[in-house]
Amino acid sequence: MRPYIYITRKLPADIVQVLHDHYEVGMWDKEDVPVPKDVLLKEVKRADALLTMLSDKIDSEVLEASERLKVVANFAVGFNNIDIKAATERGIAVCNTPDVLTDTTADLTFSLLLATARRIVEAAEYIKKDLWKGSSPLFFAGHDIHHKTIGIVGMGRIGETVAKRATGFDMNILYHNRTRKLEAERELGVQYSPFNDLVKQSDFIVCLTPLTDETENLFTREVFQQMKPSAIFVNVSRGPVVDEKALYQALVEGEIAGAGLDVFEVEPINASHPLLQLSNVVAIPHIGSSTIDTRITMMNLCIDNIMQVLAGKEPKTIVNK
Ligand code: DGY
Repeated sequence: MRPYIYITRKLPADIVQVLHDHYEVGMWDKEDVPVPKDVLLKEVKRADALLTMLSDKIDSEVLEASERLKVVANFAVGFNNIDIKAATERGIAVCNTPDVLTDTTADLTFSLLLATARRIVEAAEYIKKDLWKGSSPLFFAGHDIHHKTIGIVGMGRIGETVAKRATGFDMNILYHNRTRKLEAERELGVQYSPFNDLVKQSDFIVCLTPLTDETENLFTREVFQQMKPSAIFVNVSRGPVVDEKALYQALVEGEIAGAGLDVFEVEPINASHPLLQLSNVVAIPHIGSSTIDTRITMMNLCIDNIMQVLAGKEPKTIVNK
């Protein structure tokens, strides 16, 4: 019997072809709708491998339903959707897609910072609505980026790459991280800062930390109140790192100047969400790593990791060694 691989989202046929050559493959047939839990529970029962999306909750119920699962390859660098402890206890390898999306996600983070600071989305909508009839001295006046202070919370691979982008804008770069990044300090001139100092001093606070018990709800009302009234908050990490009600209040009360958000507490976010009614919020639908090249590379890495594990070999990028 050939091993069975279940893919929880429709992927391009030419990318998955290599799997069909060696394995039995099942795939959820919708591109933009997550696999329902009952389908996942049925499929995981006989699956040797799962290729999963961030929107799939791979909890102990799913893992317990499996009878021969050996690997879960998650299509993301983050893996907060997977119960790593439960997988490890069952000897199931969990793989992610680090490195291959670092530059792409850093590019998006910096684009979101620029778009929010310079009011790009608001201005683009204005012109398309044929509202441009004249100019004034403060017409769509935004915030400077160059020579300002950026505070990066979560100085992993993506954080360091954002810092590299910031050097090109002559920014003063602060970071907060569980561990000091001495090489980045030497090479990029970034400065370690305690969290509270970073939020007080930065013009741009960029959140790139993984979602963990320590970082959940890290950005509270008190934290936003410590920021400069001209500060711009950018989140490309995970929604639950931020208290969204507190962020909304901070924006409405003018405690901060704007927010660029790629991630939300509940995804997909509903268009009626209070944050989406604010003109000083630039919101995009969790597309940090979404370029054609990077997404294809991520798919291939997931497939490669699955094939390695099923061949009894070490996968390239394992989370729970
Ligand atoms: C990931 O891959 O975890 C990021 O959210 C990229 O968008």
